Amino acid sequence: MKVAIISDIHSNLEALQTVIKDIKKRRIKRIFCLGDLVGYGANPNECIELCMREAKSMVAGNHDWAAIGKTDISVFNPVAAEAIRWTKKSISKNNFNKLSKLKLTETIEGILLVHASPQKPEQWDYLFALDEFKRQFEFFKSQVCFVGHSHIPSAVFQDANGYTDFLGDNLFPLIDNRKYIINIGSVGQPRDLDPRASYAIYDGNNKSIEIVRLNYNIPLAQQKIIDAGLPEVLAERLLAGR
Ligand SMILES: [Fe+2]
Repeated sequence: MKVAIISDIHSNLEALQTVIKDIKKRRIKRIFCLGDLVGYGANPNECIELCMREAKSMVAGNHDWAAIGKTDISVFNPVAAEAIRWTKKSISKNNFNKLSKLKLTETIEGILLVHASPQKPEQWDYLFALDEFKRQFEFFKSQVCFVGHSHIPSAVFQDANGYTDFLGDNLFPLIDNRKYIINIGSVGQPRDLDPRASYAIYDGNNKSIEIVRLNYNIPLAQQKIIDAGLPEVLAERLLAGR
């Protein structure tokens, strides 16, 4: 079985449509989503509706919780907070209710899905450095945990002796007796200086994971952000991939 895992869409409909089209072209039937459907971009309702329609399983991100008032936006940077205020005004009641039903974690088919970290999902901690990844492994039992949140794709393994390291490739086999934390990157606002949309394919039969990058219509997503009156820097960063 193959599963596509998507995360951090951030109301970027152009990126989301491109990713879903690619997933369907590959005949992958199931999609799991790690949250942050909204925030930053101009199409929150469309992205919530498309994700909810396509994804078999989904967890909440910090921007989803912020949009429904479950997370305090005083910790957000001013631009992110402004985008959340805009999003709050823009989403329909129905979509508000959909976001409020999302859980923080889900284990499905032996995979843990969480937006930020297995240790304390509700704290929205970021995992960047190896040490930050390393301390997470004792907090989940499954072989693989998928995370988003930092918008930077990365893969870390830990072997039976506790040796932990990054994996450098975008396609790698899953080895027995190793556990993995995979950050799948962001569909709608990549921050690794590569502006292409990012998502992952988990192949449960062949035991492998691939990070996929796709070009999409960035100028259209940028124009919508500007037309919506959202901060222009949110348009600029899409092209910069940061
Ligand atoms: Fe995010």
